[in-house]
Parts: sequence; structure tokens; C-alpha cells
Amino acid sequence: MTDKTYENIKIEREGEVTWIVLNRPEKRNAMSPALHYDMEDALSWLATDAQTRVLILTGAGQAFCAGQDLKAYFRENENAPIERRRAGLASHHWRWEMLSTFPKPTIAMVNGYCFGGGFTQLCACDFAVASEDAIFGLSEVNWGIIPGGVVAWNVAKMLMPRHAMYYATTGKTFNGRRAEQIGLVNIAVPQELLRQETLALAADLLNINSGVLRYTKEAIRAVTDMTVEQARDYLAVKQEALAKADKEIGDKVGLKKFLDDKSYRPGLGPYSK
Ligand code: ACO
Repeated sequence: MTDKTYENIKIEREGEVTWIVLNRPEKRNAMSPALHYDMEDALSWLATDAQTRVLILTGAGQAFCAGQDLKAYFRENENAPIERRRAGLASHHWRWEMLSTFPKPTIAMVNGYCFGGGFTQLCACDFAVASEDAIFGLSEVNWGIIPGGVVAWNVAKMLMPRHAMYYATTGKTFNGRRAEQIGLVNIAVPQELLRQETLALAADLLNINSGVLRYTKEAIRAVTDMTVEQARDYLAVKQEALAKADKEIGDKVGLKKFLDDKSYRPGLGPYSK
């Protein structure tokens, strides 16, 4: 079956890795309503696409994403409340609800500019790899709005409080190296190594039992909003659920290889199938 094609995004395959490329380079991948609708459709399709085991989100050209399209998303909908509401729902749906709960690991590959609303999908992805010279900015205050949607919520969670306050209130830009220092991305690398390093992370993830990976990432997200007692209970039930769902029966395989076969050491890496 041939892959779907879209006007505002591109789908590319590399084995079990699927790339979604925001594809409005002439507008620095600013998010128009039409782009939001494309992303909703693509994420809904890829969530159950058997070939996709890791998803990488990036942008075409010089930008990862220059935020909401200030013309098509804001100005052109100023007097169209229904269109604005529809676009707003789609925007939140794919960038936060669908991406932060995507059933496979997700990596944001930040290749260039990342502004404002672009932070939502950046934070929704499980991992982020940035070019050292990518430019990040919470530019909302620069043109007269607050970091809305769930941008302020995300940066307040992801960054240490002083960094969140500083960058949200000054609107100052920072580069990929700084983004790594303040915990916004996992790693920043020279532009020429960006794709290679991102694929290396994807390869590491492909080596892990996919059920274990999914349940672990869901657990890490869920426990942050729980009390320790709730987390302990949740994690016990989650492990039970994994044991039922895991087709590889990973724990049995892992223990056998370590304890009986003595063929590998769990402390040093995942078992091979
Ligand atoms: N919305 C609409 N159009 C945009 C956006 C945007 N967010 N970003 C870039 N574009 C358009 C420009 O209007 C321009 O269009 P044109 O060729 O039809 O005139 C084209 O993309 C290229 O933009 P330039 O500014 O010429 O490109 P440059 O490389 O010099 O600068 C930069 C790139 C720094 C990203 C600049 O375009 C910019 O500041 N964009 C706005 C970033 C921003 O603040 N986004 C909003 C965040 S708040 C939110 O998301 C709610």
C-alpha cells in the first residue's frame, strides 16, 4: 500500500523509522490550520501503522517550526470564530493529546528555528535532538501575547523555574547548546551530525522490547502528576498489564538469558531476540 501524501507535511520512511517533516519551508514551517489538519490525520494513521516503530518529527529547510502561522491561524480567523475554534482544537489535538500519548517513541529533531507554539510538539515528543545552532525562542511576549495553549505549562514543567521564567518573560532566543544545558533537549550536536545522531537514538530505541518501551514512557509521564503512593500503586498495575500484553514475554526471556544461559548481562544492555 502506498503512503498517504499531504500538502503541508511529508512522510518519509527509513526501515522502521518514520519521519514526519513539516513542509512549509518558505514560511519557516509556521503552522496554518491546514497543517494542523494534515498532522491530525497523519498521527492518527501512523499510531497504528505496523511499519512505524519510532517516529521522528522535524522541519524542512531552515526551521523546525516558527510557531503558529500568525497570518493564517490568527489574523485570517479574527472574524471567523468557528474556523478559529476548529483550528484551535486540531492544533491542541495533534501537538499535545496525540503526540504526548503516541504509542511508539517520538523524537523531535530540531534542525533550526523553533518558536512559540512549536514548543508544544517539541515538549510532547519523548526525546529531542537539536542542532547546536538551532534558534529557540518563546517569542509570544515580543509581539504581545502570553505563551498560551499549553506552552507555558510545558516549559514550566520541563525547565528549572528560573529558566522558564527568564525565557518566557524576556522572549530572548537561545541556541541548541543552551537548550541542552537547560533540559529542553536531550542532546545538541553539530548540524552535520544531526540526522546521524537522531537515527542513532532511534536505533537504540528499536533494540528495546517495544511493549516495555511503550509502558515505560507512559509510566514516566503519568507518575509526575501523582503522589508517591499513587505512583507505587499505578506502577504495580502497569507492570501487571505489561506482563499480559508483552508478546515477547521479555522478563522471562531476559532472566533465562542471564540466569540460565549466562549469555548476556542485563546491566549492560537489552537482550537480543
Ligand atoms: N507566521 C506566519 N508567517 C511566518 C511565520 C509565522 N510564525 N514565520 C515566518 N513566516 C513567514 C514570513 O512572513 C515570510 O513570509 P513571506 O515570504 O510571504 O514574507 C516567510 O515566512 C519567511 O520569513 P522571514 O521572516 O523572511 O525569514 P527569516 O529567515 O528572515 O526569519 C524567523 C525567520 C526568525 C523565524 C522569522 O520569520 C520570525 O520571527 N517568525 C515569527 C516567529 C514567531 O514569533 N512565531 C510566533 C510564535 S507565538 C505562537 O506560536 C502562538
